[in-house]
Amino acid sequence: MSVLRSWLFIPGDSEKKLGKADATGADALILDLEDSVAAENKPRARNLVAAFLRERPKDARTSQLWVRINPLDSGLALGDLAAVVAAAPDGIMLPKCTGPADILRVSHYLDALEAQAGVTAGAIRIVPVASETAAAPFTLGDYAGAKLDRLLGLTWGAEDLSTALGASTNQDPAGGWALTYRLVRSLTLLGAKAAGVQAIDTLYVDFRNEAGLRDTSRAARAEGFTGRLAIHPAQVAVINESFLPSAEEIAHARRVVAAFADAPGAGTVAIDGRMTDLPHLKQAQAILALTGTA
Ligand code: COA
Ligand code: MG
Repeated sequence: MSVLRSWLFIPGDSEKKLGKADATGADALILDLEDSVAAENKPRARNLVAAFLRERPKDARTSQLWVRINPLDSGLALGDLAAVVAAAPDGIMLPKCTGPADILRVSHYLDALEAQAGVTAGAIRIVPVASETAAAPFTLGDYAGAKLDRLLGLTWGAEDLSTALGASTNQDPAGGWALTYRLVRSLTLLGAKAAGVQAIDTLYVDFRNEAGLRDTSRAARAEGFTGRLAIHPAQVAVINESFLPSAEEIAHARRVVAAFADAPGAGTVAIDGRMTDLPHLKQAQAILALTGTA
């Protein structure tokens, strides 16, 4: 499974925005049935999203097509899944996920629905938003070792968490994330890496601020995040580019790989007077793998 850098939300009840979907260049689109759709529009959104998927069979997709269903305790989740599984979405985003047991439950629903619809067993992957309740962040370390074959990544969200905490802001005075949100973000990164899945940073709300999106996305990649949520088509190209290694990183990675190739059996080599050892080699190989030039 390749790395998915940009994940663009599209409100599932908006024919106009769905009509722009194919041209966005997002690695993944998240057709939303949850918070961007008002209660009275939920049935319409279900129908529109199912039709959108049907019109784009798997081999005719320019982006992966994911569906954000409603939370498990909403009474809508199973109906959402039943409406879309036959059209083979690439994955399901589960909001307000409280921990690995919720993923197992959705997996079991998908087992049954895939079998019924004749969709390849296990084909539909899952990404939870694993931070939207006060208790959920404590489970972020539990995805590793939970044997969740459908799990493709972990992501987090600040807006619902601040609501759950009764907070009036999620920012610190300097405009960055307040400590609680930085903590949850780090735990998401650690939990994803521990589980061997993609680490997807949360969205950048100020969608007209391209420089801010680029700086924070580059910083996220430097920390190990593999991709990021987006809310506006203009954010897609910036995210796609930010989550690729820079030209300098690629050049350096090539030098590291070459230096080890020139010193068979060596566990450490010197490059520009700096010690370079096997973790650096692994990192260099990972960078070249991302660019498809490994
Ligand atoms: N997907 C597809 N098309 C989108 C889009 C999206 N997420 N967001 C905006 N567009 C379209 C608009 O319809 C508009 O089309 P037009 O040029 O034909 O009028 C064009 O892109 C430019 O949009 P713009 O006018 O800059 O923004 P807006 O004021 O229409 O919309 C938001 C702003 C935030 C409401 C909109 O981007 C949006 O709905 N984002 C997704 C929200 C969401 O799903 N949230 C849930 C996750 S938190
Ligand atoms: Mg939400």
